[in-house]
Amino acid sequence: MTRLEDQIRSIREEALTGISHARELSDLEEVRVRYLGKKGIVTQLLKEIGKLPPESRPTLGRYANELKAELVQLIKEKREGLLKAKETREFLDISMPGRVPLRGNYHPITLVLREICEIFVRMGYEVVEGPKVELEYYNFEALNIPKDHPARDMQATFFVSDRVVLRTHTSPMQVRTMEAQRPPVAIIAPGKVFRRDSDVSHTPMFHQVEGLLVDKGVSFGDLKGTLLMFAREMFGKDAKLRFRPSFFPFTEPSAEVDIECVLCRGKGCRTCKNTGWLEILGSGMVHPALYRFVDYDPEEVSGFAFGMGVERIAMLKYGIDDIQLFYKNDLRFLGQFFL
Ligand code: DAH
Repeated sequence: MTRLEDQIRSIREEALTGISHARELSDLEEVRVRYLGKKGIVTQLLKEIGKLPPESRPTLGRYANELKAELVQLIKEKREGLLKAKETREFLDISMPGRVPLRGNYHPITLVLREICEIFVRMGYEVVEGPKVELEYYNFEALNIPKDHPARDMQATFFVSDRVVLRTHTSPMQVRTMEAQRPPVAIIAPGKVFRRDSDVSHTPMFHQVEGLLVDKGVSFGDLKGTLLMFAREMFGKDAKLRFRPSFFPFTEPSAEVDIECVLCRGKGCRTCKNTGWLEILGSGMVHPALYRFVDYDPEEVSGFAFGMGVERIAMLKYGIDDIQLFYKNDLRFLGQFFL
């Protein structure tokens, strides 16, 4: 083999590598100019062959011309390939499903809180809100829970200062409302409450909805009717309630209210500890002592009050058995609840 034949062979190899490595049209154009341009390697080669003695020209000339034709063909094919790839990349498929943005939803407690409020608003109650950082006076004293009263121990209190606490219940809104309005009053007060309590069935922050109705001639029967109506709206028309005598310093008489277990329909199961009933709220007739704090006349008006735990109701409504789930911020759990 002649030196030139050898050279043609290695030029070919390099050129083929250059073509196959070209990623963009501009890379390919560089390769083309390098080999086939006016001063390109193959063009120069053909010129040189032209100057050779006549007997070596035909064979080498054929090799060189074949190489040129091959490169022209390969570059053409590669160009078409690159053009097609570019087109595909730039092609906009408007029928392709879009990327769906992660959609937020309301926290289950917010949903249940709203539902509770809506039920009472339909019955004519007004929604009021009050401070979470509350005076000891409203949280305890004006609710007939004086200092050293054992009922203060039941509600492990977070103190902010001597006279200021994080409210341990929404009941202070009873007094605040009566201070601000004359009877008749019909309010519900939803919101966060705080207790130094944290275990499987308690979280240090939870939600309550307080209810208060004061007017002339309000009876315990009105309380029962109102709560039954609420339970039917919330849990379905078959909901049954049970009133158990109880004690709260701010109501007399007082009752704790149970709902027939929504899971076993009263037959007895793990959730209701085989009793067939689940406690959902505390209630009673407003204690006359409270009226003295707000300048209402207990001879003239009477009223009832109730306070319910929202987490409790949400757990019953959705069949959730662990209160901690509400506050672990696990989106797999929280994403399951919609309006
Ligand atoms: N405040 C009570 C608690 O947190 C619940 C309660 C009981 C509210 C009786 C009331 C009521 O309005 O009448 O345990």
